[in-house]
Amino acid sequence: MSKQQNIFDNDIFFNEYKNLRDRDDNLNVLLEQPAMAKLIPDLSGKSVLDLGCGYGHNCTDFVKRGAKRVVGIDISQKMLDVARSESADEKIEYVNMSMTDIEALGEKFDVIYSSLAFHYVENFAEFAESMLTLLNNGGWLLFSQEHPIITATLNGKGHFNRDENGERVSYTFSNYNQPGKREIRWFVDGVVKFHRPMGEIITSLAKAGFVIDTLCEPTPEKWAVEKLPAIAKEYLKPNFLIVKAKRT
Ligand SMILES: C[S@@+](CC[C@H](N)C(=O)[O-])C[C@H]1O[C@@H](n2cnc3c(N)ncnc32)[C@H](O)[C@@H]1O
Repeated sequence: MSKQQNIFDNDIFFNEYKNLRDRDDNLNVLLEQPAMAKLIPDLSGKSVLDLGCGYGHNCTDFVKRGAKRVVGIDISQKMLDVARSESADEKIEYVNMSMTDIEALGEKFDVIYSSLAFHYVENFAEFAESMLTLLNNGGWLLFSQEHPIITATLNGKGHFNRDENGERVSYTFSNYNQPGKREIRWFVDGVVKFHRPMGEIITSLAKAGFVIDTLCEPTPEKWAVEKLPAIAKEYLKPNFLIVKAKRT
């Protein structure tokens, strides 16, 4: 597979991203993590591989849920430095590698989990096949990624449209059916992501041998709207795609 970008080791990006994640009203806290928590399978006595584990907070959560072994991998040494200091546990091993190289782990897992990292992978069909080979029979894959509506637009982002009172009423995006590389500004210029239409994502998983259990485009719950009223905009378009699939 081609060389993967490691933007989280960029000092400016790393610090800005950390500031965002340290807030208690970001979309991870209010929308993505609660939706993932509802779908996570029973982890008692299970082995878990976390792809793009970042600070390792999910890895410690898996141990609390009863996992017997957790491997967290990330391409960013800076993210893993935080993980090793904030999220250490004898049941957790952190490995600095690209998730596109996971077959080199030479180990099988009961659950593969990934939060908001798969849009950094270029060839999803090949990647789905790699993941299947690392899963035990009956094992689960649970991942979230930026929704294809969010990754779609070339040369920038989609945007909300407002009525005469300034209320958001719709969302414009483009280039949906043009899969491929997107280079955007997110804290710094040149952040590389990959856009795939929904059909490509689901078909890649199915052809690799996964059986889809759940496809979720989370909407904020009442408590989240109370905490951050502006998050009601998520009713106009999804921000995240979550897929739960099984190796049967
Ligand atoms: C948006 S962060 C999410 C971190 C963590 N999963 C969480 O939810 O808190 C994406 C993570 O994916 C990692 N990442 C990006 N591309 C990667 C790759 N090719 N292989 C492994 N990790 C990668 C980044 O370094 C970063 O830590």
